[in-house]
Amino acid sequence: MVVRNFCYWKVEIVTSKIAVTHPALIDVAGKECQLPFLIEAYPESADTPLSELLDWLTETTTWREERLHRAGAILFRRFTAIRTAEDFAGVAQRMAPEILDYAGGTTPRSAITGKIVTSTDAPRHVVIGLHQEMSYLAPTQEFPDPTPDKVMFFCATAPGGGGQTPIADMRAVYRKLPRELVERFESKGGLILHRKLPTHKRYGFEVTWTTAFGTSNQAEMERIARKNGWPMSWGKDGGLEVTHGPSPIVRRHRVTGEKIWFNQAHLLHKSVAPWTSAWLGPSALERMKARVMEPFIRDRFYYHSTFADGSEISEKDLDTIRSVIAEEMVLFDWQRGDVLLIDNKLVSHGRQPYSPPRTIYAALLADQARRPAA
Ligand SMILES: [Fe+2]
Repeated sequence: MVVRNFCYWKVEIVTSKIAVTHPALIDVAGKECQLPFLIEAYPESADTPLSELLDWLTETTTWREERLHRAGAILFRRFTAIRTAEDFAGVAQRMAPEILDYAGGTTPRSAITGKIVTSTDAPRHVVIGLHQEMSYLAPTQEFPDPTPDKVMFFCATAPGGGGQTPIADMRAVYRKLPRELVERFESKGGLILHRKLPTHKRYGFEVTWTTAFGTSNQAEMERIARKNGWPMSWGKDGGLEVTHGPSPIVRRHRVTGEKIWFNQAHLLHKSVAPWTSAWLGPSALERMKARVMEPFIRDRFYYHSTFADGSEISEKDLDTIRSVIAEEMVLFDWQRGDVLLIDNKLVSHGRQPYSPPRTIYAALLADQARRPAA
């Protein structure tokens, strides 16, 4: 695992209204990092009122998008007007034409205001591996690209310790992976994600289908699945079995045309799922509990990725993928008020374990309105 801590010197950039700097980020080896692109308020602009800040965000859209597509992620820092989930919602609305629902997600979250949600409610000791949000969703005729274009995070309360949101450039991951592996994966015609979701939590870390899809109505769930082309069925206890896919393994960026490693096989796989003890805790007792509980948990809460033809992905390949992603991982410490804008295709994100407190909100965005054609 490569960890980059940042120190930097400041380079001034003057924009029309609000003075910001683009500090150069230097890693522990003294090398300049391109990820994330940091936009920091100059001291005289730090207290710019929110309404002016929002206007400035709109005015600088072209510049910002160009930087985002080059770097893959932008970190906004020291803008004191952004303090609440509502402020963050206002910022998110200036970044893209549509804020998306989290319908179909795999991590437990809570709604905060409008479509702003908590980044994850997963237990604080759990490492959430790097992933591009919802990359397992398959294109349909109605939604040729159902995955978010952007993911945003806002630090309302800085972590007591740890709790970073690591990021990694998935173009670099694509370039670094062995060609033989990439070609073999691409020849498989995509990935399928198999999921079992219970109606109620029994062990604490399950994601219920009512949370994942934002409804507790079975007929509505069936409508959502039909609309998205997801095969589904109901279990005896009212649990949902659903499959997503085939989803792409590699894709090209809509704007830059670059090839990107774009799938979550390394994460959404039974070998690293919660029932393997990862979510219970690291002790010998917790590992033993996980072994005993696994069949009971898997019976009602399960996920696993296979190739589109149903064949298994080898653990050796998954380990290769995980280690290349880890080599590209960038870590920085959250500061209160930070806003991180991520191009969800170019850059993956995760979460490190933390000491409380930690309040990070999230928003998913679409660059083109996704409302289905009438
Ligand atoms: Fe995520």
